[in-house]
Amino acid sequence: MERKNLNIGLFGFGCVGLGLYEVLEQTPSLNARIKRICVKSRDKQRPLPQEAFTFNASELLEDEEINTIVELIDDSDAAFAIVRQAMQKGKAVVTANKKMIAEHFEELIALQVEYGVPLLYEAACCASIPIIRNLEEYYDTDLLESVGGIVNGSTNYILTKTALENKSYPEALQEAQALGYAESNPALDVGGFDAKFKLLILIAHAFGLVVRPEQIFNLGIDNLGELELAYAREKGYKIKLIAHAERNADGRIAALVVPKFVREEEKLYSVDEVYNGIQTKSRLSDVQFFVGKGAGAYPTASAVISDISALSYGYKYEYKKLNKEDQLIPVEEIFLKVFLRHDLAYGFEFKRYFDDISESYVNQDSGYIIGTISLANLQEIRSREHAETSVVLFEVLKESLVEDGSW
Ligand SMILES: NC(=O)c1ccc[n+]([C@@H]2O[C@H](COP(=O)([O-])OP(=O)(O)OC[C@H]3O[C@@H](n4cnc5c(N)ncnc54)[C@H](OP(=O)(O)O)[C@@H]3O)[C@@H](O)[C@H]2O)c1
Repeated sequence: MERKNLNIGLFGFGCVGLGLYEVLEQTPSLNARIKRICVKSRDKQRPLPQEAFTFNASELLEDEEINTIVELIDDSDAAFAIVRQAMQKGKAVVTANKKMIAEHFEELIALQVEYGVPLLYEAACCASIPIIRNLEEYYDTDLLESVGGIVNGSTNYILTKTALENKSYPEALQEAQALGYAESNPALDVGGFDAKFKLLILIAHAFGLVVRPEQIFNLGIDNLGELELAYAREKGYKIKLIAHAERNADGRIAALVVPKFVREEEKLYSVDEVYNGIQTKSRLSDVQFFVGKGAGAYPTASAVISDISALSYGYKYEYKKLNKEDQLIPVEEIFLKVFLRHDLAYGFEFKRYFDDISESYVNQDSGYIIGTISLANLQEIRSREHAETSVVLFEVLKESLVEDGSW
């Protein structure tokens, strides 16, 4: 098959943009060259001559010689404007921006149909792990039941460093930022939002369901405290931030992002540092496990390069599974076994939200409850303004999901 020549307009020359530039320079066989780079700040030192750069997006978007836009900026609103305009101009697009995709999924799918141009985003989900094309192509004929795991490299790095190396949370976050693992706005990582954006992309390609970010409940690692860390240590568990979606017998989907106690015998237990791990479970192949680096310049650039290569062979997502019938399971129907840490003042009140309680504990200023609670009640507790709480999941109860699921 003949390979198309790609003339690239690159937006962003930060961690991933620079990584991509370096790798492309060393891969002449791709028939892809960067014609011009658009960045934001005029006063930054750059490793390339000034002429390589512009600060004016139109210089790339209006250039008819540029047939491919690679969007690697850290501003999702500006990114959407760039991507939409590029597609309207008939240019193929590669992006790593999960926030932009999650917030504009339906519009982006419609733009691909209307203008007949491909939009690829393998790097937006778990960086180096080739999961999107796998879900899109391989599992089409398989009966997929669940998908999920550790999808955020920077929080996994922080959890590894705080739990295993006793580093402080700010110290570990700073390290993740210095290594280029963290988003410019770390609240997206540590609050579980970045994981939710990725889960949304996984759900679309796994189950053909496009949902809005506000439809999925997410908790992050930003509230984790000593009581739950000590509990995990005592039991030999690790706490990992998990994003997971599972389809039940009637085709409806449960989806959630939450810190979870992971036992030594689970595959995700040994996924540490900046690594991500995704598990799929399907009726035919049972459990499959994908592991790889989930952030950083070269791991992310490797997925961008793979998309560029796919474009040169004319690849596009077909969204064959898109199905308006599939729906999310309402939060009232999902039951979880959790560890809830609370301020001393709220212990008695919060117990009333639980269906059953297997253990509770209080000290001078805080306490915890372990028990079964509906996701609706958990959301209500979390929305209480002055109550400091933290939640770690043990499991999602199987009655609310497929039998023998893989939560
Ligand atoms: N870092 C990772 O490990 C990783 C992994 C997966 C996905 N991603 C995604 O990849 C994208 C880039 O991340 P990054 O870590 O490379 O970010 P970064 O290091 O902060 O770099 C951002 C780049 O975007 C440029 N920029 C910002 N707003 C712009 C605008 N309006 N027009 C043109 N350029 C603009 C900045 O210009 P200046 O140089 O002038 O400041 C900078 O070069 C994000 O969507 C991120 O979510 C990153």
